[in-house]
Amino acid sequence: MTMHAANADSIAAAAQHLRAGKLVAFPTETVYGLGADATNDAAIAKIYALKKRPVFNPLIVHIAAFDWLGTLATTDDRAVILAKAFWPGPLTLVLPRSKTCAASKLVSPNLKTIAVRQPNHPIATHLLNAVERPLAAPSANLSGHVSPTLAAHVEADFGAALDIILDGGPCQTGLESTVLDLSTATARLLRPGAISAAEITAHIGPIGPSAQMTTAEDLKSPGQLEKHYAPSVPVRLEADAAEAGEALIGFGSTANADINLSAAGDLTEAAANLFHALRNLDDPTRFSGIAVAPIPKAGIGIAINDRLRRAALGR
Ligand code: TXA
Ligand code: MG
Repeated sequence: MTMHAANADSIAAAAQHLRAGKLVAFPTETVYGLGADATNDAAIAKIYALKKRPVFNPLIVHIAAFDWLGTLATTDDRAVILAKAFWPGPLTLVLPRSKTCAASKLVSPNLKTIAVRQPNHPIATHLLNAVERPLAAPSANLSGHVSPTLAAHVEADFGAALDIILDGGPCQTGLESTVLDLSTATARLLRPGAISAAEITAHIGPIGPSAQMTTAEDLKSPGQLEKHYAPSVPVRLEADAAEAGEALIGFGSTANADINLSAAGDLTEAAANLFHALRNLDDPTRFSGIAVAPIPKAGIGIAINDRLRRAALGR
């Protein structure tokens, strides 16, 4: 059986699986992760294979406590300040790999850096503490598909190919973590998320702009493949209404929405509902496309619009 309600027994079984080099999907506050023992080359290789993920796209390593960071990466003042301010939480720090880094080179092939975060979810923390090793975990979706915010989304993408999916209910944030590159003198935002650039700037000063990249060749530093969060039907943004055949994702006062991300106009609620809405309406037998009402570009709305823009680029 694949799906397991997360409890002490299933988490213990999952930890055993991970220590044996197998994969386990587990909830975090952002999205579900597809976890593997970050110190085990063969286990990491299974992640790329199962997700059909190109190996030039590196993985985030998850830790249970700040003091695990020293076993993986070299830190500086900025990293310590940001970890103190936002961990556990949806902020991933890209740092230089330490000389004695415990993680497999396969988590970031051909790079001198490693991406690390401490998730803020009791099941993830419990699991990490039971495994007693850092876990590499990309979002638990097929490469190029929308990230999973429910255990059922993970099952839809991988089904029986996974022995254990720990079901912890819906993810609270619903968008992937903010990714910040601290491997260079000027910090750079690689992926917007729930922790905004403004919040980061408030702690460490100005950060550099993020470059936009579309192909593997452009990837001087990965983390930013443009085409990503794509449903199989076309996505049309800034729509006032649906055209014939289209589904409509609304926000606030949108009329006739098939799904309203937040009738109250709350961006946090909208973020939590976005990926489920895209998965739900991504059905070519029902809709020719998905139209999306304008979403304000402030706070977490910046991350929502980033994911929508990528979804609209298509497959
Ligand atoms: O919220 C999240 O971050 C979720 C949960 C499971 O933690 N994980 C997630 O992983 O979204 P993934 O693999 O779907 O996205 C990781 C992003 C990718 O864009 C990847 O290129 C970037 O982080 N990344 C990972 N390691 C990197 C590195 N060393 N340098 C630059 N970018 C890196
Ligand atoms: Mg992903």
